Amino acid sequence: MKSMKYTAGLLLMVAAAGCSKVQDNTGANGVYREAHRPQLHFSPRENWMNDPNGMVFHNGEYHLFYQYYPDSTIWGPMHWGHTVSTDLVHWTHLPVALYPDSLGMIFSGSAVVDKDNTSGFGTPEKPALVAVYTYHDPVGEKQGRNDFQTQGIAYSTDNGRNWTKYKNNPVISNPGQRDFRDPKVFWHEESKKWVMILVAGDHAELYGSPDLKSWAKLSDFGKEYGAHGGVWECPDLFPLTVGGEQERKWIMIVNINPGAPNGGSGTQYFIGGFDGTRFTCDTPPAKTSWIDYGPDNYAGITWSNAPGDKKIFIGWMSNWAYAQAVPTSPWRSANTLPRELKLVRINDSLRVSSTPWPDVEKQKADVKNFGRLVVNDSLDLMSGTATAMIEGSVEAKDFFFTLSNGNGEKVTVGYELKTNRFFIDRKSSGKIDFSTDFSRDITAPRFASGQMITFTMVADVSSIEVFFDDGATVMTALFFPRQSYDRLKMYSPSGGVKIDSLSVSRLAPIW
Ligand code: FRU
Repeated sequence: MKSMKYTAGLLLMVAAAGCSKVQDNTGANGVYREAHRPQLHFSPRENWMNDPNGMVFHNGEYHLFYQYYPDSTIWGPMHWGHTVSTDLVHWTHLPVALYPDSLGMIFSGSAVVDKDNTSGFGTPEKPALVAVYTYHDPVGEKQGRNDFQTQGIAYSTDNGRNWTKYKNNPVISNPGQRDFRDPKVFWHEESKKWVMILVAGDHAELYGSPDLKSWAKLSDFGKEYGAHGGVWECPDLFPLTVGGEQERKWIMIVNINPGAPNGGSGTQYFIGGFDGTRFTCDTPPAKTSWIDYGPDNYAGITWSNAPGDKKIFIGWMSNWAYAQAVPTSPWRSANTLPRELKLVRINDSLRVSSTPWPDVEKQKADVKNFGRLVVNDSLDLMSGTATAMIEGSVEAKDFFFTLSNGNGEKVTVGYELKTNRFFIDRKSSGKIDFSTDFSRDITAPRFASGQMITFTMVADVSSIEVFFDDGATVMTALFFPRQSYDRLKMYSPSGGVKIDSLSVSRLAPIW
């Protein structure tokens, strides 16, 4: 992210402090039924949202905080908005959790349950939630200093409803690094300490702490690794094991903007080891791997303390290249669907796969099964709904699906055998002239090599998320048709494409 984004000033920040609105979350009276409003994804009732923050599961609730500017539909002085869910599908809006203060705006970060009360903020019986975030001081920035980002903490002893900022903030001061932000914290059992990963421009830094308050630097990673087309942002670090195997690997997520494979913002990852001090990458320095090849999944990280130790990921469903110009009102931006991340072995290499959170299926209505068939030209799959899940298994030959409306606007998602690539084409998808970056080609490699390609696609009014080959290749893209898409067709341009299974389900709104 360019610092230009931060130009909305301190005055606005002061004006914003102190107003706490609980948002309406019903679909009544047209609320949540506006043009382009996602019906299945989390979006704030109104105003600007970017990164998901502080995701933590506690006492039966999945907390989701987010970068929020409550006074405008463009980026401004950052707060942490707050919502909770018991199923990661339906969301209850809560008041803003963290407001800017004299140390600065509240940038991205994470939250943990301090189960052993290492911080002393709670009790072992009633552990505190501790949020760890970046302070961005716009005054220091304006003065041309390079130490204006520091790390702070806040805690809650009432299930995240009220937050108290730690009196000795910041807990990590700035070492003279312009970009120094987005702390993600986890408990490392083997070395019995808290570990924080944060990003510092072109690399990640690891810190350790006994109590979440005093932190000591452990190591650096990444100057020579992966993509460096932009600044590193929003990192994560967690273990995963391939199903049925013994060896545990550590996955480091590093968001980057710009420099993603299809332009602008994207989420890369590294697979390696972590010994409590240092991350060592298994793959060569030049290798890049991406969580999602679509243009609209950024700043994603995983939930802390999720049941069953699952790695549940959610991203901001937009791209800094045009996020502030997308034609929505009175809100700007939604999140991706929550996704489960897994480590999978494909043709002897390891990859991180993503699949939509299973409870999304609870919204299925009117399931239509097409069974086994061969598509020689085209096949009508659906009419009349803009929110649907399409699942199936199709032969690895040229094919594409088209979502369209009566205006001739359409978005196309498919596979090209010759290049062995998936693609999304949104050049004729509707409103595209708000940014020249919006209509570029979007492609993704196929990693699996089976004769059949499995897929799950979730279309939701103004977005499509496609999970090919059990989530080995994932693409997420936005679109803004002038009239809702209400038709879905499959095409086989070269004829004779076998389908083993195919079903289309309308999805009921969550709002
Ligand atoms: C990523 C990001 C973070 C920062 C936040 C500010 O989109 O730039 O690095 O903390 O957004 O809103």
